[in-house]
Amino acid sequence: MPAFTPPEVRPLISAERIAARVNELAAQITRDYAGRSVVLLSVLKGSFVFAADLARAIDLPIRMEFLGVRSYGDDTKSSGVVQITQDLTRPVTGDDLVIVEDIIDTGLTISYLREQLKGRNPASVKVAALLHKPARIQREVEIDYLGFTIDDVFVVGYGLDYAERYRNLPYLGVLDPSQPASK
Ligand code: IMP
Ligand code: MG
Repeated sequence: MPAFTPPEVRPLISAERIAARVNELAAQITRDYAGRSVVLLSVLKGSFVFAADLARAIDLPIRMEFLGVRSYGDDTKSSGVVQITQDLTRPVTGDDLVIVEDIIDTGLTISYLREQLKGRNPASVKVAALLHKPARIQREVEIDYLGFTIDDVFVVGYGLDYAERYRNLPYLGVLDPSQPASK
């Protein structure tokens, strides 16, 4: 059944393309961590859909942790301020961590998180990001597992929001500010 597309959203990356890419990333993680276990650290809220799909495609014993972070208000511009809204439920000392992010935009959030998490003494930290917008980067970040590189557009769907909306679209789309938002 075709998914509903609100008029103000222009489809960018289809659910099929996302699924294929997520499976490739999961296969890479499965190979890289063969014989070990991994803690997938999903950065909320934006990465919840990506993390759920990635987790199910990884063929390893994994553990899930969630970290609530807010870096944007209800705006499309980075405030540069990262606030932890929900902490991990268990220590990650000695664990191999893969931070799962929806999108690396300015890079401020992921740089901050990497530093924060180092203080908790994991064995290793890698980053999996569904999207990367290199045009707006302010901090150099190493992305170990990257889904797609995109232009400087504001995207929604597949977990990503605008003012808390559109997270449940099964594909990624560009929000067109010239179109009025549907109710
Ligand atoms: P950064 O700190 O600028 O790298 O921003 C990272 C966070 O900003 C992401 O985890 C998203 O929550 C949000 N963000 C950045 N770009 C977009 C976008 O195009 N659509 C939706 N959220 C975005
Ligand atoms: Mg957001």
